[in-house]
Amino acid sequence: MAAQIIDGKAIARDYRRRVRDQVRARVAAGKRRPGLAVILVGSDPASEIYVGKKLEACRKADVVSRERYLDAATSQPQLLAEIDALNDDPTIDGILVQLPLPDDIDSNTVLERIRPDKDVDGFHPYNAGRLAQRTPTLSACTPLGITRLLEAVDEPFYGRRAVMIGASNIIGRPMAMELLLKGATITVCHRFTRDLADEVARAEILVVGVGKPNLIRGDWIQPGATVIDVGMNRLDDGRLVGDVEFETAAERAAWITPVPGGVGPMTVAMLLDNTLRATELREQQDPAAADAS
Ligand code: GUN
Repeated sequence: MAAQIIDGKAIARDYRRRVRDQVRARVAAGKRRPGLAVILVGSDPASEIYVGKKLEACRKADVVSRERYLDAATSQPQLLAEIDALNDDPTIDGILVQLPLPDDIDSNTVLERIRPDKDVDGFHPYNAGRLAQRTPTLSACTPLGITRLLEAVDEPFYGRRAVMIGASNIIGRPMAMELLLKGATITVCHRFTRDLADEVARAEILVVGVGKPNLIRGDWIQPGATVIDVGMNRLDDGRLVGDVEFETAAERAAWITPVPGGVGPMTVAMLLDNTLRATELREQQDPAAADAS
């Protein structure tokens, strides 16, 4: 294997420690601990695991978490009422509604109900728009975490050819904006893209977030490329694999993320980072919000 592994677990640990130290410094200065509310509707097993990891990370970083597990039959008005209450709660700095939501709930309506200054997922159109207009405030956690991974391996961005596979609101679109902000030349591929192999072969930086096991063949990868695999796919035999054929891709890439242990831990670390950021930004607007009493 030629590629060096990008150790997302270790890099994420450093970010989480930094948040924990800042939270402790706040408490020592008589300020509140940041508060994060996490809402899960229904019992999707993967979502339960992700939410569990987010809550555990809060505990370790001394961030206060408040979890709301709502029945799959929860109506959209009930969910919106939960969000309204958290929007008005001065002890809550960040609100996260775990996706996907049940089919009869409109995700866009729900995400737009969260106050933009408490939108620690960065999914509200206001925050997506700020990133698009080069004034990021609270940015989507996975693309932000990938940008931090690329910075950690000293990836020069300016003028590099970056190819994003996947055009979702959660990963592909904000990732393209992060890379553009960094000065890369971006191509976004999606289900209508012709000649996917040709597009991949042009990539000096390749980010793949589709959710299709081994969609990207290792022999498509440009020698020396940096490969970021957001995919997390459970195969019938129980193995967890990404969207990129790891073994063959690693023979050609210079840097590659493993699955698991690459992007996933960074998403959680950036959520904590955003929660602390949201706390501090709100205090700048309203200094009384810092009060620990
Ligand atoms: N589902 C998959 N990824 C995410 C994420 O980053 N945030 C939320 N809220 N739901 C998700």
